[in-house]
Amino acid sequence: MPKLFSLGLLSLLPVFLGIYLAWCQPEHLRELQHAFSFDKASSAPTTFVRRIIAVGDLHGDIENAKKVLQMAKVVDKNGDWSGDVDYFVQTGDIIDRGDDTIKLFAWMDKLRQQAPAKGGQVLSHLGNHEWMNAIGDWRYVWPTEIDTFGGSDERQEMITTGWIGKAWAANYTTTSRLPLHPVLGPPNTDYPPAVAQSDAPSTISHAAISFVHGGLAPTYPHLTPFPSRINQISSSLLSKLQDRRPFPPPHPPHPYPGLPEDANPEEQRLYGTDGPLWYRGWALDPEESVCRQVDDVLNRTGTRRMVMGHTPDFDKIVSRCNGKILIIDTGISHAYGGVLSALSIVYTLTRVDSPAGTPSSMKTWVEKETITALYMDNHELLSEDTRSIMSDFDFA
Ligand SMILES: *[C@@H]1O[C@H](CO)[C@@H](O)[C@H](O)[C@H]1NC(C)=O
Ligand SMILES: *[C@@H]1O[C@H](CO)[C@@H](O)[C@H](O)[C@H]1NC(C)=O
Repeated sequence: MPKLFSLGLLSLLPVFLGIYLAWCQPEHLRELQHAFSFDKASSAPTTFVRRIIAVGDLHGDIENAKKVLQMAKVVDKNGDWSGDVDYFVQTGDIIDRGDDTIKLFAWMDKLRQQAPAKGGQVLSHLGNHEWMNAIGDWRYVWPTEIDTFGGSDERQEMITTGWIGKAWAANYTTTSRLPLHPVLGPPNTDYPPAVAQSDAPSTISHAAISFVHGGLAPTYPHLTPFPSRINQISSSLLSKLQDRRPFPPPHPPHPYPGLPEDANPEEQRLYGTDGPLWYRGWALDPEESVCRQVDDVLNRTGTRRMVMGHTPDFDKIVSRCNGKILIIDTGISHAYGGVLSALSIVYTLTRVDSPAGTPSSMKTWVEKETITALYMDNHELLSEDTRSIMSDFDFA
């Protein structure tokens, strides 16, 4: 159903006078594209809005996960998809440290099924803990959790050939690139190598955000093409793990099984310390060094910001380098007792009147990204960027 949004851009941008008509939240991507093909005979400006909610490590606690998704209006009071957001992104580590593994993965699947009917989509990621479990490294499995599967063998089967293992293979990736803007295509469209190599990427070419569990390290050699390279390596490693026969018995008490013998060097690097699952540099390195390195990674991945979990701060969502790095693991699970949090990203693109003297072929748009940390009893504005862009291209 179309929804109206109102904007206060006039107060921010007195130079642009006009009437700002809000437009609709479309049903699916094809209609999103139509959002830009407004009637050229009409002078009514158009606003496109995309709302994203991202949530970090959940670690086996469905009660707290429900509180967070209700607070962020991803779901209604019954835990069903609300239709109030366009994308819900979870950055991995649903498993371990709590009992609710089955309930959480089942709920994610339900939301994934429900979302499209209301124009939404769920993007799920594998964290290092999902990978550990697939490998047979069960050191952080909550002791009582194994019973919820009916035993260790049943659990192993469920996360390989069972519905959880199949969901990981089909609907979970290691990283994603989420365009803020439909002209860049649906989620996980690669940042085009041709654009990446050109000297002048277009103003809109980086209007996207990356999500990953650990971090996209500057030293990691397989960042590009982003995100398909990482996700191809990830699918191939996951299928090698899930295809092992017999499954190595879990550690402990058995020895650590490690990666499969046929894992190639790229697959081993994926699971390495500067790989996307384990890297902590963006969270732990000094401000000066991360802010020096971040633009290069954003540049190569065709993004403006990177969102990740994995390295908890139990008090708050961490924003570094003016919100280019956003770390959203706040220890939501009772295993940590951190704060309940969600990250909200609201993107708006508004057609405005061009300043006097602008060639008639050029159109003027105002882009705005509002990044807010949502907590149970307060919200904190982390970053707000507004840009005016000129373009001669059509968005349709
Ligand atoms: C993946 O998600 C789609 C869309 O919700 C669903 O129809 C499909 O059954 C899922 N696949 C698995 C293996 O869970
Ligand atoms: C981004 O990449 C382009 C093309 O390779 C390059 O010319 C530019 O200097 C890079 N910018 C940054 C901030 O790294």
